Amino acid sequence: METAEWYRYFAEREVRERSPVYEALALGIAADSEMIELIDGLPRPKRQPNLLLAAVRFLGGPYDEFGRFREWTVRHWAEVRETMLARRTQTNEAGRCASLLPLLAALPQPLALVEVGASAGLCLYPDRYRYRYDDGPEIGPAGSPVLLTCRTNGKVPVPRRLPEVVWRAGIDLDPIDVRDDQAVRWLECLVWPGQEDRLARLRGAVRMARQDPPRLVRGDAGAALPDLVAAAPAGATVVVYHSALMPYLDARARDRFVALVRSLRAGGLPVRWISNEGSPRLPFLLPKLTAELPDRRLAFLPALDGEPLAMAGPHGEWLEWLPEPAGS
Ligand SMILES: C[S@@+](CC[C@H](N)C(=O)[O-])C[C@H]1O[C@@H](n2cnc3c(N)ncnc32)[C@H](O)[C@@H]1O
Repeated sequence: METAEWYRYFAEREVRERSPVYEALALGIAADSEMIELIDGLPRPKRQPNLLLAAVRFLGGPYDEFGRFREWTVRHWAEVRETMLARRTQTNEAGRCASLLPLLAALPQPLALVEVGASAGLCLYPDRYRYRYDDGPEIGPAGSPVLLTCRTNGKVPVPRRLPEVVWRAGIDLDPIDVRDDQAVRWLECLVWPGQEDRLARLRGAVRMARQDPPRLVRGDAGAALPDLVAAAPAGATVVVYHSALMPYLDARARDRFVALVRSLRAGGLPVRWISNEGSPRLPFLLPKLTAELPDRRLAFLPALDGEPLAMAGPHGEWLEWLPEPAGS
């Protein structure tokens, strides 16, 4: 995708109706050849809309209106560029646990969780958040600072009880330490303006995680995975999962990663695999869908062992269970 098209896609498919401020900025950038030329001077993976917008905010630039944003960003391009090169979009969205929970709770308990692309590890605590699906009862520990709400459609198997997690660990190229204030401020800048509920959720999840920081291993998705799986305690179902990781892997790395997870499963280990990725990212899931994808909204596809079970909002805000295939 060309850079201008990428920014337009981001505006129209990702932030429209969620962050009008970002929609206006991204459309402005897409139509501005000078800004596109600056962005094109960066390595391709660093041209991401969310990375640029977060970098400007992190540096204290204005983002309420395109003209002011543009003027400031062009003037401070050296610093913006340096920040974009030094940092990654590592948005850590605890809300995605609402998409994962029905899948996790249906597995044989207890669980040992291995998250790949864990960022600060906030999705490693599905058992520490409170949840409410539609108007149903709240589930989860009463004292949790985070309540995840989720609208459902179809026969979502909403669990009555949270999964029992006996062990958890994550892998990331660049793990974020929840105790590092600057790193947490960067995470906050990755939340889109106007999404106060996401910001509150992030702050609550960081507060919770700071009391018991997760074990995070620095490494590449594939390279670090076998050792971590082998380190999980016997007697637990090992769940290898990832959400919003695939955009960072090119097609070959993605295929290698999927083949590795399949080989771990084929090796006789009690490993289950949950993926929660945007619909274009794991194309082998698409022919298995038993419902139409939403027209203009980006949907994630929660899948177990390579079989899609649901469609979900990118931040866990909605969850639609797929009908059983005809004849099953
Ligand atoms: C968008 S964040 C998602 C974080 C978390 N899974 C969530 O859903 O909130 C993607 C994370 O994947 C990490 N990542 C990207 N490429 C990776 C790789 N090859 N190996 C391990 N982690 C990677 C990034 O550093 C980033 O923290």
